[in-house]
Amino acid sequence: MNENNDQIEITEDMIYSCFAAASLSDESRETAESFVDVEEYENQVMYPEFARWAEKAGYPKLASLFRKVAGEEKLHAVWLRELYDDIGTPSRGEDTQRAIDALQTIQKNCDDLIRLNPDGVVEKALKVAISVEAREATDIYPRFRDQALERGDQATADVYQRVVDSETEHMIWFQSALSDLQSGRMAVA
Ligand SMILES: [Fe+2]
Ligand SMILES: [Fe+2]
Repeated sequence: MNENNDQIEITEDMIYSCFAAASLSDESRETAESFVDVEEYENQVMYPEFARWAEKAGYPKLASLFRKVAGEEKLHAVWLRELYDDIGTPSRGEDTQRAIDALQTIQKNCDDLIRLNPDGVVEKALKVAISVEAREATDIYPRFRDQALERGDQATADVYQRVVDSETEHMIWFQSALSDLQSGRMAVA
């Protein structure tokens, strides 16, 4: 712990850099791999870390919400794996690796910052979670779905549509948690 370090500041942009975007490829299998890689990253790394922050900030219910969403991101990967049963460990996407590195950088200062300004960190994490979910729900995964539809692959399109619906739900849950936090109604037990 560095008592003299009064420069620590974790911005929303820094937290947003922990988001890895899945990428659409010409090969539907590659698209599926990138999807699984990103969803499993959110399940194993990003949302568990946000849950840890919420827990430390004194918001166990919000921590549970992050863990619940983490579990659903895992499910999204499972749904797609059922269609592409030969996806083992997907190759680590460049964007996912970049996101993991960003998260590790943040972790170095995070615990100090949560002690100084718990609500500030949690508020930023929620804003980032909302933009992540919104981007997946309204841009990234609809394009994945449309590509599958263009190829006549209804089964894959159906999975991406289920994911779009689920990410929309995540966005709404986080929006409501943010408004609870901002109005001082966030449950502390
Ligand atoms: Fe997801
Ligand atoms: Fe999600």
